[in-house]
Amino acid sequence: MARPILLLLLLLALLSGSATGRPARSTILGRIRGEKLSRLHFFWHDIFSGPRPTVVTIASGASTNSSATLFGLVNVIDDPLTVGPKPTSRLVGRAQGFYASASQESLGFLVAMNLAFVEGKYNGSTLTILGRNQVLTRVREMPILGGTKAFRYARGYVQARTRSLDLKTRDTVVEYNCYVLHY
Ligand SMILES: *[C@@H]1O[C@H](CO)[C@@H](O)[C@H](O)[C@H]1NC(C)=O
Ligand SMILES: *[C@@H]1O[C@H](CO)[C@@H](O)[C@H](O)[C@H]1NC(C)=O
Repeated sequence: MARPILLLLLLLALLSGSATGRPARSTILGRIRGEKLSRLHFFWHDIFSGPRPTVVTIASGASTNSSATLFGLVNVIDDPLTVGPKPTSRLVGRAQGFYASASQESLGFLVAMNLAFVEGKYNGSTLTILGRNQVLTRVREMPILGGTKAFRYARGYVQARTRSLDLKTRDTVVEYNCYVLHY
C-alpha cells in the first residue's frame, strides 16, 4: 500500500476512534475466498495387545472397575492411522491424545486428540478433534476444532464407525471420514 494512503488511514483512525474517546471498533480486514472442503478417509487402530500397545490406561476412579460404563477411565493414545483396515496397511498419520469415560448412563467418551499426518500433501499438518463418542452407536460424530499447516483455520466434523473389536484383547479398528473446511 502506498505511504500517503497509510498516513491517511492512520489520521482517520486517530480522528474517528481513540482521539474522541470512543472504544475501538472491530474491522473486517478482508474476505478470503477459496476455502476448500476436503474429505479424509482412514482407519484408526487402538491396540492394547502385543509388545507395543498404542493405548495406555493412565487413570481410573475408585468405582471405575465396578461401573458398567467404565466411568472415570482415562486412556492415552498414540494410535496409527492407516489407509486400509489392516494394521499392516500404509501409515498416513497418528492420533495422539486421550479419551475418558465421561458417561454413567451409556458407554461414552470425551475424546481429545490431534491427528498428525505423516505423508503426502498433509505431511506435517494436524487436525484437532474434541468431542463426544458414544462408542456403541453405529456412527459417531465429533467436531474438528482447528488445525495447523495445510489445515490452518480448519473446521468440520468426523464420522467414526467401528469396523472391528476383539473382545478378548480389546483391539479396535475404527473407520474415520473427516469433512474439513480449510484454505
Ligand atoms: C481395576 O482393574 C484393573 C485391571 O484389572 C486393575 O489394574 C486396577 O488396579 C483396578 N482398579 C481398582 C481401583 O481397583
Ligand atoms: C514427511 O515429512 C518429514 C519431515 O519433513 C520427512 O522426513 C518425511 O520423509 C516425510 N514423509 C513423506 C512420506 O513424505
